[in-house]
Order: sequence, then C-alpha cells, then structure tokens
Amino acid sequence: MLRDRVRRKALLDKVVSAEEAASLVKNGSRLGMSGFTRAGEAKVVPPALVERAKNDGLKIELFTGASLGNDMDGKMAAAHLLTRRSPFQADPVMRKAINNGEIMFIDQHLSLTAEAMRADQIKKVDTAVIEACAITEDGYIVPTSSVGNSATFALDADQVIVELNLAHTDQLEGMHDVYIPEKRPNRTPIRINSTMDRIGVPYFAVDPSKIAAIVETNIPDSAANNLPPDEETAQIAGHLLDFLKNEVKQGRLTHSLRPMQCGIGTIANAVMSGFQDSPFYDLEMYSEVLQDSTFELFESGKLLRASTTSFSLSAATNDHVMANLASFKEKIVLRPQEISNNPEISRRLGLICINTALEFDIYGNVNSTHVGGTHMMNGIGGSGDFARSGQMSIFVTKSIAKEGKISSIVPMVAHIDHTEHDVAVVATEIGLADLRGLAPRERAPLIIKNCVHPLYRDMITDYYERAVKRGGHTPHLLEEAFSWHVNLASKGTML
Ligand code: COA
Repeated sequence: MLRDRVRRKALLDKVVSAEEAASLVKNGSRLGMSGFTRAGEAKVVPPALVERAKNDGLKIELFTGASLGNDMDGKMAAAHLLTRRSPFQADPVMRKAINNGEIMFIDQHLSLTAEAMRADQIKKVDTAVIEACAITEDGYIVPTSSVGNSATFALDADQVIVELNLAHTDQLEGMHDVYIPEKRPNRTPIRINSTMDRIGVPYFAVDPSKIAAIVETNIPDSAANNLPPDEETAQIAGHLLDFLKNEVKQGRLTHSLRPMQCGIGTIANAVMSGFQDSPFYDLEMYSEVLQDSTFELFESGKLLRASTTSFSLSAATNDHVMANLASFKEKIVLRPQEISNNPEISRRLGLICINTALEFDIYGNVNSTHVGGTHMMNGIGGSGDFARSGQMSIFVTKSIAKEGKISSIVPMVAHIDHTEHDVAVVATEIGLADLRGLAPRERAPLIIKNCVHPLYRDMITDYYERAVKRGGHTPHLLEEAFSWHVNLASKGTML
C-alpha cells in the first residue's frame, strides 16, 4: 500500500522508522506540524520526540494549524518537550504548562501564523512534520483530513518529514485547494467569490529534495470530544433560529441565509444541529471546522456545500463520512487556514459567524480565552478572524457555568478578545440581544433583560444602575468592575 501511495518512486529510499525521523530534529528546532482540531496531525514522530525529551532532554518550539489529536499536545507537555507553542491548543495538561509559565503560548488569530512567517514577522520553522495521504509523481504532498498551516510549513522548512498515513482513505486526494496569497506589495485579490471556488492546487508543491524522511503510519484521527446537545444548547439554538427567521421576514436575509461559519466546541456544534428543525434550506458553510452537525445537515439535504480547513468529528460520524467520502467530494473543499479564515473572503461572502464566548459583558465585549481574566483556556482560534469581518457576528454561551457559581455575563469582561465593535448579537439559553445599531446605554439594559440568568439579574442591574448615576458613554464603577471575578478567585463563586 505504501508503494501505491508514494508515487514518486525515488522517494521510497527515504522510508525510515519514526525514531530515525525524530533523530533529524535538532535541539531548539522550530517545528511546523500538521494538525487542526484533532484532525490530520502527525501521529508517530511526535511520540518519538517525546521519548527523546525523556532520554536526552530535547526541547523544541511547536507550531501547528490548531489543536492536535491522539492527546499529542498533552503528551508533549507532560514530557516537557515544548518551550513555545502556537497558535492554538485545547488540552488540559498543556493548559496547565501554559498557565504555570513553562510553555510560552502565542495565542494568534489562526489566519495569521503562516502569513506572519512568510513575511518574516515571526521566524520561519526549520523542520516540517506533515501527515500525508499520498505523494504525487512530482514528489508533492497530498494532505489528509486537515490543511491548516501545513503548506507554508512544508514550503518554508529546510527539511520535511512526511508521515504517510494509510489509515486515511485515498479518496481525500482532490478535496484540497491549496492557494497561498501572493507576496506584498503587489498582492492581488483572493479570487474566491463563492463557497466552492477553487483557485489553487490539490497538494503542497514542495521541492522533493527537501523530503528528508517518510514514515509509514496506520493510525486514525482521534474523535472530537464534544458533548451531545442539551436543554440549554437547544434553547440557544431556538433563540438564534427565531432571530434569523425574523431577519428573513424583514427581507434582510433569504431562506438560504448567508454562508455560515460556526466555531468549535459543544455549544457551537449543538447550535448548528438546531438548523435541522428550521425552515432554512440550501445552506452553505464557509468555516474552519466541519463538526458532526455539518453532516447531519448534509444528510437531511439542508446544507448544499461547505468550505473548511479541517474535520472535527465523533468516531461514528468520522467512520460514516470517510467510508462515503466520494459522495461529499463535490460538496466539500479543504483549504489552508489562512484562506478558510481569510477576512477578505469572509467580508466578501458576508458570512454569518457563530462563535462561543466564555463570558461577555453588559456592553457586548467578549472573552473567549481567559478564565477569570488570567488563565488560558484554548485560545482565540478563528473567532477573531471571522468576528470582525463577517456580515454578522453572533456570540453564544450558557448564562451560567459551574452550577451557577459563575455568571457568563459580567459587568466587565476580565480579558477582551472581541470588542463591542465586533459583536452584533449575543445569546444565552435565556434569550438573545440584537445589539446592531445600539449605543452602550441601550445595549446594557437589553443584555441584562434578555441574557442574564435570574440568579444574577438583580446584582447586575444594581451594578448598572449605580454606574449610570456616575455618567459616561460606557458607564462603569471601575473599583467594582472586576469584583465578580475577584469573588470567584477568593470565594469560589461570583454570587
Ligand atoms: N468562566 C469560566 N469557565 C467557564 C465559563 C466562564 N464564564 N463558561 C464556561 N466555562 C467552562 C465550562 O464550565 C467548561 O468547563 P469544563 O471543561 O471544566 O467542563 C468549559 O468552560 C467549556 O465550556 P462548554 O460549555 O463545554 O463549551 P464549549 O465546549 O462550547 O467551549 C469555549 C467553549 C469558549 C471554551 C470554546 O468555544 C473556545 O475555546 N472558544 C475559543 C476559540 C473559538 O472560538 N474558536 C472558534 C473559531 S472556528
């Protein structure tokens, strides 16, 4: 099988074990690895690097598309392999190493990393470790279930290690559209005018002489760990659908809405599932991940086509989709994340962007990343790429967390990822606040009335009313603004 997939036969001489490939990585290397939301990550070289960390104290800086599957981030963090990590992770062990200062985490908009490397704004990677489903006759690399930043890593690195993963169906070949924006200052527009437009090539056109090693693997992607929809997520979806139905009624949208972008995680996945029982049809997605909900909508005929940089699927959905991939080939395109998340395209297509907040405040500022204002959760991911550039930016969250000890709507967010200027609509299971065209003094009463949990409504109303007495365009009691977070840190509850 490996011989069939490596179609440039001279490269078969490069086939080595994972340990041999890992030995090519120098101490202090900057590594660019494939992998995005647990899809398409290198599977056997990272564990071999972990062994080296344990045996000879190897340290590296690691760049990927986003989070890695098969607990790779956790294993690397536990072995103290990493000194630097970017641009996104979602692992509890790594989170701890970031929050105790061991790993320097650069939390970056996902569309920016590859571009910043090519423009020498951040240092390029020296080694790329890329999962592939084939190598073409020209020696070019065909990626697997994610594209992420791998094209730029492979093109810019001094050496490329390829993991040829036979567990991936060869039907993936042809689904990718790899386009790298031209160099500035003479860059021309990115010519994507609709979801499925193809403007690139279906592989990474690396110089084959840079391929230093090929390692055979046969390990599947690990499953997404989203929880199933629950009562609250169904209620959030309900509010959102009512809102969008009204947009159609007012003539601002049609039954097919605009292409949708939907964030990662349990809540966003559940909200998208809600579209199943909606009057909308002929939907499209222009997003960075396709979760289980996408395929529910494909199966029911509601969704026509989708552009993404990665899949993030449960085991059952993954098995079903990969076994029937041929039937999705005309409906799905996989792009580099700087194109799937590109603000130019997002603004052109007028995306409806739905992302999840950890918390938002009475004026609509959103914190997606920092628990209690200081501790990294996962990272901003693509939410910022889309929030500012889409046609409509919607943030959702449950109104309370940790059995009510935390209110997800606070007087002032303790860290801001998306400012009030980027946020059009916020929704919790309690209700939805349409903030478009509203001034701060109009936003706050609406958010308090429609989104705050009854447990916290009197407290937040009291805060706002006293703040208004002090005046200001955006009234606050600065000495009290973070008191809810301070209480949580000192007493374990915001109540
Ligand atoms: N303060 C502290 N913790 C909070 C919180 C708050 N206001 N709100 C939720 N949490 C906790 C939950 O209790 C849960 O904790 P647990 O893991 O210990 O159970 C955790 O955050 C995740 O919340 P959950 O309700 O399961 O939501 P989710 O899986 O949908 O994830 C985010 C929510 C915000 C963490 C996730 O969407 C994210 O990382 N977003 C940022 C990146 C992004 O938006 N990318 C999308 C671009 S496509």
